[in-house]
Amino acid sequence: MPEVGEILKNEVLKGDYYKVVFYVPEICKNTKPGQFVHVKIANLRDRILRRPFSICDVDVETGELTVAYKIVGEGTKVLATLEVGTVCDLMGPLGVSFTPTKDDEFPVIVAGGYGSAATHILAKQCVTKGVLLLGARSEDDLILMDKFEEANFEVRLSTNDGSVGHQGLVTELVEQIIAENTDNKKLRFYGCGPTPMLMALGKMLEDKGYECELSLDHLMCCGVGACFACVVKVKANNEDGWRYARTCNEGPVFNSKDVYYG
Ligand SMILES: Cc1cc2nc3c(=O)[nH]c(=O)nc-3n(C[C@H](O)[C@H](O)[C@H](O)COP(=O)(O)OP(=O)(O)OC[C@H]3O[C@@H](n4cnc5c(N)ncnc54)[C@H](O)[C@@H]3O)c2cc1C
Ligand code: FES
Repeated sequence: MPEVGEILKNEVLKGDYYKVVFYVPEICKNTKPGQFVHVKIANLRDRILRRPFSICDVDVETGELTVAYKIVGEGTKVLATLEVGTVCDLMGPLGVSFTPTKDDEFPVIVAGGYGSAATHILAKQCVTKGVLLLGARSEDDLILMDKFEEANFEVRLSTNDGSVGHQGLVTELVEQIIAENTDNKKLRFYGCGPTPMLMALGKMLEDKGYECELSLDHLMCCGVGACFACVVKVKANNEDGWRYARTCNEGPVFNSKDVYYG
């Protein structure tokens, strides 16, 4: 499963966001929407710890796999300095994937920050073209809108500071979409972004009875189910009503009805 991948491109996407392209034909062949790669970043002092990144795009013909990432700490800072030709070790594709829509369903993707990277392949694979609702603190954190437009998705934006799109929370755009659905399309929701946003989204849609899948990204260590560093609470038939699930191999994608919101 690990594959050594040469960097073919590593460039600024926007502000602190970068795009890196690896040559990993085997991983590309097997990738499903919402899966991730666990990357051992070359030239990083703590060489043992890998960093997980959603697979933003793959080209099965050329063997090119794209990751969109934000610099947030040491690992991503070093990743941004790696030059074309550098080789990294990638594990993947890992994790449970999103289920693309069926013919009679209308996809609504709700994303925050790099959530647009994690849902891009899903948008490409949905038979019916739907809507991306993309939210962030400000315009600086909105990325990849053009990629969704290329996939024939309508894009609606929200920012907390009102720098672009609707001023407020992305979940308010969800209310808008539901209210506009006067011809009763079968809406199917997908969410990826910060945990508070996903919890609010999942709870809201559960109460309204909609189908929804959530990608619950979490701090990860081994990436393959061995260390329990990455757990979240899911519903269970026991005294507590919940159990811990590992987001790396039982997720990151969960049906919102299985998530424990208590
Ligand atoms: C399944 C999965 C998919 C991901 N996909 C992407 C992606 O497509 N693009 C992207 O930019 N990032 C993605 N991330 C987050 C990415 O893994 C972290 O940003 C990265 O590991 C940080 O490494 P670092 O060494 O730069 O920062 P660290 O020094 O390790 O951490 C810096 C800061 O980032 C926070 N952080 C680290 N990991 C996460 C996380 N998983 N979620 C929220 N905050 C975190 C830490 O708490 C800390 O505050 C994903 C995470 C997971 C679990
Ligand atoms: S990261 Fe080790 S079990 Fe999930």
